[in-house]
Amino acid sequence: MNYIGSKHSLLGFLTETMTAVAGDPSGCDFADLFAGTGAVGSAFRAKGCRVVSNDIQYYSYVLNRHLIENPEGLEADIFERLNALEGVDGFIYENYCRGSGSGRNYFSDENGRLCDAVRQEAERLRPQLGEDVYFWVLASIVSSIDKYANTASVYGAFLKTIKKSAAKRFVLEPLPTVSGERGKAYNEDILGLIERVKGDILYLDPPYNSRQYCTNYHVLETVARYDSPTLRGLTGLRDYSAQKSEFCSPRTAASALDRLLSRADYKYVFLSYNNEGLLPLGVIEEIMKRYGRYEVFTTEYRRFKADTDENRTHKAAKTVEYLHCMVK
Ligand SMILES: C[S@@+](CC[C@H](N)C(=O)[O-])C[C@H]1O[C@@H](n2cnc3c(N)ncnc32)[C@H](O)[C@@H]1O
Repeated sequence: MNYIGSKHSLLGFLTETMTAVAGDPSGCDFADLFAGTGAVGSAFRAKGCRVVSNDIQYYSYVLNRHLIENPEGLEADIFERLNALEGVDGFIYENYCRGSGSGRNYFSDENGRLCDAVRQEAERLRPQLGEDVYFWVLASIVSSIDKYANTASVYGAFLKTIKKSAAKRFVLEPLPTVSGERGKAYNEDILGLIERVKGDILYLDPPYNSRQYCTNYHVLETVARYDSPTLRGLTGLRDYSAQKSEFCSPRTAASALDRLLSRADYKYVFLSYNNEGLLPLGVIEEIMKRYGRYEVFTTEYRRFKADTDENRTHKAAKTVEYLHCMVK
């Protein structure tokens, strides 16, 4: 998935650095508590760790419920059946497609109706499918439908005319299963969860700037929950008051990080951040040094697409990506 802050293309840097600091992670209790797409937790599960994952967004929980909790080699013959369904008029079509008169254009009419059909059938079949296959289907819906979004990159706005990739017919592609021990996924604010988990390695990948994930991915949240929320305004935002992150505000980010680290019961803590984030390098260093021995590693990284498109005041095509390390 094309996700703000995804660490998919930084996995080499992250796994090599964490291994250099903490040793071979195999057999370790590893926590990925700002999990997003689950890229990091999945990689460490495959490396033999027992993984706990968490995110405040429900669509992310759905992805991680599959990637982290589901058994390797799970099988199901449901995908073919779901792909053969005809479209229906449901919440997605009624609220995010132009043809329904919603005034929004997040998906083509055909794909909005197909998404409704597949999402409703998944819910209807939930008791028969069982929870593992149900979440596999849901995670596959979230990751597949995102490929057909008629947006520049995130769901803060839609495009006026349907772009080429959004015009293609929606196909539900099963996400792969991940090898390794079954872990546990949570859907909570990290500042509460951190009191109840402990282990060897804690990986932290908070938002870097003031762009809230709840507003940038609100359509995926609704596809995942399918809870018919009241939508507001031209972009159709759902109520996100319970999902606003303290890590997205310059006023609260430093104190939230301090509270998080003060509660963390892990031998190694690794924190990803970049040189353009809300918290300057020196502030993070000062906070981490309160709780352990500190070191930082860096690599250059290509800027996220939405940042290049939407914020033309940025000059550099690359940013410096930091991995802050703290050892207790
Ligand atoms: C930079 S992204 C993580 C990207 C992830 N490492 C990946 O590779 O996809 C930050 C994530 O933190 C989540 N988040 C923000 N504030 C949170 C909080 N207080 N508790 C839990 N998750 C939070 C967001 O929903 C978002 O998915």
